Amino acid sequence: MSASASQIQRTDDGALRHLLTLEGLDKADLTAILDLAERYLAPPEQQVVRSPVLNGLTVANLFFEPSTRTRASFELAARRLGADVLNLDVSTSSRIKGESILDTIYTLQAMQVDSFVVRDAAEGVPAMIAAAVRDGVSVLNAGEATVAHPTQGLLDLLTVRRARPDLSALNICIVGDIAHSRVARSAVQAFSTMEVASIRLVSPPSLQPDPALYPAATAYTEVTPAIAGADIIMALRIQRERIADQDDIPDVAAYASRYGLNSQNMKGAADGALIMHPGPMNRGVEIADDVADSPQSLITEQVRNGVAIRMALLQTVNATNARWRA
Ligand code: CP
Repeated sequence: MSASASQIQRTDDGALRHLLTLEGLDKADLTAILDLAERYLAPPEQQVVRSPVLNGLTVANLFFEPSTRTRASFELAARRLGADVLNLDVSTSSRIKGESILDTIYTLQAMQVDSFVVRDAAEGVPAMIAAAVRDGVSVLNAGEATVAHPTQGLLDLLTVRRARPDLSALNICIVGDIAHSRVARSAVQAFSTMEVASIRLVSPPSLQPDPALYPAATAYTEVTPAIAGADIIMALRIQRERIADQDDIPDVAAYASRYGLNSQNMKGAADGALIMHPGPMNRGVEIADDVADSPQSLITEQVRNGVAIRMALLQTVNATNARWRA
């Protein structure tokens, strides 16, 4: 039987060597990462926090799917920790000439890359790379098919914890295309590990997830009952690029009217309920402008916290891998 991502990402003594999934990370693991990230947060008007902990190391960004937030924040995180950063331009790389992903990795590894940040549309790619790299090299999953987006799950958890530190009291509602969302997978893993009060997942019948993947959550097909009394509401876009059968893609106007977050349906949420969205947003579809831009919106905070979380993770995995370096 092949090892699971949650096994591959740890050393024999349990240290986190890669970050492939939030599965198997316990409350103490998540809290340690969040606490470290807090050290890298400064108020927006102050200078960014820097540290030399990755001086002399090289981080390579390999994004085989589009990205704005994750790629930019990993680059800034690595630079703020003193690393050299390589952003492989996939569209002009030798993968276009048929080079395998592992040959690409071995090529960059020969140039002494220490951490690979990988996003890919295929399930299992980050774990496959992690199993192939030499000792001392780490892999961080920056988005894997519909399966995992662990750094997003951690930044979402950090954002919620900073806004509402008593996680055990929170009712969390995620609205949108849950079936194809790696954001939902990792966020629900993080929130359920931290034992929030409830997790509600709302989506149209054609975009409902396999309930076995979400044992800690309750599924809804209508927004009103799911949003009732919710403290945190996260909107997700329809992941068109991952929907094989075009007939499963809802009509945009009908979807916006039934599942879009707007000031009207938000009235059913708890007083002071907070809004989240991992981005990219489709304004007027899954979220209305006045909700996205409201004082209750944490969307900009999510982006800001993403850099700090990625700094904490780069530091954590490279500290583990330091045992193999001379
Ligand atoms: N949330 C997220 O993963 O955004 P990007 O696709 O822009 O990285």
